[in-house]
Amino acid sequence: MAKKILVTGGTGYIGSHTVVELQMAGYDVVIIDNLSNSNIEVLDNIAKITGIAPEFEKFDLTELDKTIDFFKRYSGIEAVIHFAASKAVGESVEIPLHYYRNNLVSLINMLECMEKFDVPNIVFSSSCTVYGQPDKLPVTEQTPRKDAESPYGNTKRVNEDILNHTLNANPHLRGIALRYFNPIGAHESALIGELPLGVPNNLVPFITQTAAGLRDGLKVFGDDYNTPDGSAIRDYINVVDLAKAHVIAIERLLKGKNKSNYEVFNLGTGNGYSVLEIVKTFEKATGIKLNYKIVGRREGDIEKIWADTTYANEELGWKAEKGLEETLLSAWNWEKNIRGIK
Ligand code: UD1
Repeated sequence: MAKKILVTGGTGYIGSHTVVELQMAGYDVVIIDNLSNSNIEVLDNIAKITGIAPEFEKFDLTELDKTIDFFKRYSGIEAVIHFAASKAVGESVEIPLHYYRNNLVSLINMLECMEKFDVPNIVFSSSCTVYGQPDKLPVTEQTPRKDAESPYGNTKRVNEDILNHTLNANPHLRGIALRYFNPIGAHESALIGELPLGVPNNLVPFITQTAAGLRDGLKVFGDDYNTPDGSAIRDYINVVDLAKAHVIAIERLLKGKNKSNYEVFNLGTGNGYSVLEIVKTFEKATGIKLNYKIVGRREGDIEKIWADTTYANEELGWKAEKGLEETLLSAWNWEKNIRGIK
């Protein structure tokens, strides 16, 4: 019988791509999502890609009673991938308590239920934001974490600690925290992708919306950084590559191949690209001229970061495969699909 995996936040951006890869690998998936930042139609589009509609439960994981009730109704879950969280950096500065309640309480409730209902495995969505601006590049998993720049970033750091301490105290539980660098792009079918509500904060959705005519122009935040062209550098990773790493992490836990009961992996490509390089590569991949202008730095931004991928490559046997051009093209194909552009 297929093993059952619970994916919280499974209708969201990274969640939906991961559900597809799990189903393709033969797993049964049940999703919990409160649809606060995603759309129910994602379920149909997942089914169009894989031929299988995942089971779905709509509720908020901060409600412990509902979470317990879920586990009473669904037996046989072998592992959890916990994506469900609020993720807008700027918003987290304005409404910090919402971020702390939503992101921390949902993980705490999940871990309590895993103990109570004997679900031993969890993969947690963390972020390279926990490194802040590292003193040395590229960053390995041993690079020290720094104080977070935002409440959002702090929820990732505190949640890593909550997970680590809980797993230490419960040797029958095992978990992996995956620190994502900058996920971009969309599924090659263009049926699922990133769907930001309102004005996008992240670079690539802003670029694709500008190309689609929804935004007048892109603002490049800063050209006076200590980088070759002066714009800030990030490690942009294709969301399908990222999703595949989750399937490998799940297999690692289910087969007991983990080396300790709390492990951490960086998920990036190992390559850093500047904002201006992203703009130029997007123009090359799509043939569209982007309207952009250089403005001042964005508050809270770091100068440069990229991953050392050695540990993930060797220990997980996973490597990001897709190139930047095809990834940016996939983001554009998704934008065209949702806007009805031919
Ligand atoms: C942010 C978060 C990160 C989170 C990620 C995905 C921080 C410091 N970073 O990453 O934790 O996981 O979003 O949600 O908390 N840029 C422009 N113009 C724009 C938009 C962005 O020039 O209109 C630049 C930014 O200044 C930055 C780069 O593009 O240098 C990438 O920005 P963005 O996509 O927002 O990601 P991060 O800030 O790296």
